[in-house]
Amino acid sequence: MSEKVSADLFLPEEKKAWFSHDRFGMFIHWGIYALAARHEWVKSREEMDDAAYRKYFDHFDPDLYNPREWAARASAAGMKYVGLTAKHHDGFCLWDTKTTEYNATNTPYGRDLIAPFVEAFRAEGLKVGFYYSLPDWQHPDFTLDMYHPLRNREDAVALNTGRNMSNYAATMREQVSELLTAYGKIDVIWFDFSYPGRTYKGFPGKGPDDWQSLELLRLVRRLAPDIIVNNRLGIETDVPDVLTPEQYTPRTPPTVNGRPVTWEMCQTFSGSWGYHRDEDSWKSPEQLLKILIDGVALGGNLLMNVGPTGRGTFDQRAIDALDAYARWMKLHSRSIYGAGQSPFTAPDGCRYTQRGNRLYVHIYSWPNQYLHLDGLAGKVAYAQMLNDASEVQWLGADTDPHFVPPVGDTTLTLHLPVKKPDVVVPVVELFLKEGATP
Ligand code: GLC
Repeated sequence: MSEKVSADLFLPEEKKAWFSHDRFGMFIHWGIYALAARHEWVKSREEMDDAAYRKYFDHFDPDLYNPREWAARASAAGMKYVGLTAKHHDGFCLWDTKTTEYNATNTPYGRDLIAPFVEAFRAEGLKVGFYYSLPDWQHPDFTLDMYHPLRNREDAVALNTGRNMSNYAATMREQVSELLTAYGKIDVIWFDFSYPGRTYKGFPGKGPDDWQSLELLRLVRRLAPDIIVNNRLGIETDVPDVLTPEQYTPRTPPTVNGRPVTWEMCQTFSGSWGYHRDEDSWKSPEQLLKILIDGVALGGNLLMNVGPTGRGTFDQRAIDALDAYARWMKLHSRSIYGAGQSPFTAPDGCRYTQRGNRLYVHIYSWPNQYLHLDGLAGKVAYAQMLNDASEVQWLGADTDPHFVPPVGDTTLTLHLPVKKPDVVVPVVELFLKEGATP
């Protein structure tokens, strides 16, 4: 893009303070693909044309949809904001849009799904965001490309003629305007995704010029000045509102041109984002918790995804996964909200998060009674297990010299209970002395 992108199209830190504080959100991938129950990309993967995919639209009737229940589960899990797929790549719109018939009101369910959703999550005190797909495999003006369901048809080239991406970009602006004006204040908009340069059989990939990303972003800013916009519009900038690593935990805090940025990883319970009946790769409670802790320890957020069923429910596996968060967060959220990367270096098998003078030691590998914290001798005023506020003592210089560091060493050796507390990841809360730094 030739145009210079002005920094005021992006949010200053203070407008993102709530986001960095809250750390943990729920992603929801829901649409008619939930009926196929074999990945939200099923239309592309199986190269279905509109007629073949139509059966999901014609049978979409989530009779058990109760967003208040979703919101209650999100809140119990400790999630503070939510992002719902208003439209995914298949182009199906969950709201009563004027731009296309291809929306929830024309399915057997017959109603807008977004209004009750927004109301329910706001009532639980969560901030509300929308995921909005840039690709649209149903829109007649959206050109064929490497992901389009019709890409391998013999008549693909002919099918592409007459399609006009500029018309599609105008539709996107209308759809996004509807989403940002009809449902009160929206806190996050999550565009997905850009793939310039990925040419396939002569069909080019798509990026900011195709989406008319700058125009779209300007519109978003005008309608919702404080909204957080993710980085997948493909606009080059040093100051994106939020970077979005997907399905992996970064090794170090992500940067853009050497500068630290706000970031949020998105992750799934089992691999697919939409409901997948037969997937057998569900993460364990321990893995789920470590994803959250690892992220906060590096100063990032976690957007953890649920794919509701075609009846509008969270299935039992999703409920169990959320319960794992709920049980842990009930006792440990102090080490998550408002916490971030610590300047101290955690020992092997541990992760630190820090909030002011509280340093949280997340113990992934329970040691045999003694945990050595380098660089913390003399810097801690008090220590306790976070799950039950039981005091954790540390060894003094008068203890047996065979396992205590020599006097003058900077290591603080905590004396932990022999038995690991009955929580998935135990945490020691250290109250640092005034001004303690490494
Ligand atoms: C990917 C996929 C998609 C999912 C998204 C979530 O870009 O296309 O199905 O919605 O990531 O981050």
